Amino acid sequence: MQKRIAVLTGAGVSAESGFATFRDTGGLWEQYDVNEVASIEGWRRNPELVLRFYNDRRRQLKDAAPNAAHKAIAELEKDFRVDVITQNVDNLHERAGSTRVLHLHGELTKVRPNYGLYDRTFREDEVIDVGYDEVNIGDKAPGGEQLRPHIVFFGEAVPNIERAADIVSAADILLIVGTSMQVYPAAGLYRYARHGCPIYIIDPASVPVSDPRITHIRDVATRGMEKMKEILAK
Ligand code: APR
Repeated sequence: MQKRIAVLTGAGVSAESGFATFRDTGGLWEQYDVNEVASIEGWRRNPELVLRFYNDRRRQLKDAAPNAAHKAIAELEKDFRVDVITQNVDNLHERAGSTRVLHLHGELTKVRPNYGLYDRTFREDEVIDVGYDEVNIGDKAPGGEQLRPHIVFFGEAVPNIERAADIVSAADILLIVGTSMQVYPAAGLYRYARHGCPIYIIDPASVPVSDPRITHIRDVATRGMEKMKEILAK
């Protein structure tokens, strides 16, 4: 029976693919006001700005490539049952070959009908894959609603969090790569790891969690995954 590895990733795993993280020096939230481009209030206030922000990031994604860390995580599937739980909205885990990827905060290449707060919620079969194309005001869903990014804006629920908690609680090993562990509920997922489940964190900086099960590999994702492969090979 293959051991189960849950891999929780954040922006740091895509940093070496050329993507700015959010909270590092020079990060995305230094360049943009998160409340304007990534919150539900910002979407209501100025949808054109939000669509432009995600069009820019989608265009950047088209020319980006998975890095050695994404590939090493995908290669773990040779010896383990791997479930990737990512906070990232890029598709680099999938493009690196990971076959089970759960996006907590949505997906950059997808859009869906914009229903109002008191309307019904969207159905999974209403999510449209636009690849790397732009989506602008006036681009409508089949039902006539304006299309919006399939992204969890700040202020919205995280629909996949319970599935993510189930994955972590079933894991034999939890690997956390490149997240500042500052955004809940994702940051609390490590608490669902079983009592004896070893937790490895790969991050060049310290992260604000303490737990006797944690081993912190203080390095960037690509080198950290090399060390992780050695640990797992033992
Ligand atoms: N390799 C590994 N980790 C790295 C690297 C690297 N090359 N470069 C930076 N890091 C680490 C940073 O030290 C930091 O701990 O990646 C982490 C990035 O943290 P954030 O910028 O806060 O990104 P993340 O944790 O993914 O943010 C969570 O916040 O804004 C929201 O929805 C957005 O999903 C995002 C969520």
